[in-house]
Amino acid sequence: MNGLAALCRRHQSVLLVLFLLQIQSLGLDIDSRPTADVCATHTISPGPKGDDGVKGDLGDEGKHGKVGRSGPKGIKGQLGDAGDQGNIGKTGPIGKKGDKGEKGLLGVPGEKGKAGTVCDCGRYRKVVGQLDISVARLKTSMKFVKNVIAGIRETEEKFYYLVQEEKSYRESLTHCRIRGGMLAMPKDAAANTLIADYVAQSGFFRVFIGVNDLEREGQYVFTDHTPLQNYSNWGEGEPSDPHGHEDCVEMLSSGRWNDTECQRTMYFICEFVKKKK
Ligand SMILES: *[C@@H]1O[C@H](CO)[C@@H](O)[C@H](O)[C@H]1NC(C)=O
Ligand SMILES: *[C@@H]1O[C@H](CO)[C@@H](O)[C@H](O)[C@H]1NC(C)=O
Repeated sequence: MNGLAALCRRHQSVLLVLFLLQIQSLGLDIDSRPTADVCATHTISPGPKGDDGVKGDLGDEGKHGKVGRSGPKGIKGQLGDAGDQGNIGKTGPIGKKGDKGEKGLLGVPGEKGKAGTVCDCGRYRKVVGQLDISVARLKTSMKFVKNVIAGIRETEEKFYYLVQEEKSYRESLTHCRIRGGMLAMPKDAAANTLIADYVAQSGFFRVFIGVNDLEREGQYVFTDHTPLQNYSNWGEGEPSDPHGHEDCVEMLSSGRWNDTECQRTMYFICEFVKKKK
């Protein structure tokens, strides 16, 4: 046992190194090694001090230290200089209207103007000429509309309009009059023919015309009280008036006149005098 202890003492470092190398290379448990048991039971005294080691390299930078305590309160500062001027304020509300001023003095009269230039009349005359043509065309169109669509007939002096509403003689008179006209009074052959053609072309047989003897029996007059002195177109044997009841006059589509009862109702023709220019 003494011999082994001495061996251990002498070679403990070597043994320890060998032991550690064995553990590393074999991966064995340290407690199961008999060599360890042998050395562990004996006191191992330190060896002589070794030589000084070579100075190591410079270490990494250390961590930041803790935040220090707050310092003492500073001395009060002096009053600063005056600041810059502020921005201009918002615009205020509009003020009330002021009083009317007094009338000013008369101004100095202006200078005499330059003489005007002669107008380019040729061009305008051409335009006006074209307008006249357009107006003439329009008039023709209007005449067509009146004659064909509206059914109005006209002469140089008058319009004639066949009213297709059955009315008594007096109602017919009123109808024409409130429209500014008269019950048609054919005072010559031309007017009579125009009215007769109008009635015939419209497909009717009879219309009231403005002739009657309401004021004096047997004395026929136009509704404007002019006598039938220059023109009449009675049918054969007319006016007959057997019982004195036929005081009004109708025109047949042939253009012939026939006395008839005023209470009868039929279509009639109004005439309108064209306004003189
Ligand atoms: C009849 O005709 C003549 C001549 O045309 C005229 O002067 C006269 O006024 C007419 N009379 C009536 C009542 O229309
Ligand atoms: C003329 O009037 C009378 C009375 O209204 C009538 O009996 C007669 O048939 C009329 N003549 C014509 C040709 O229509």
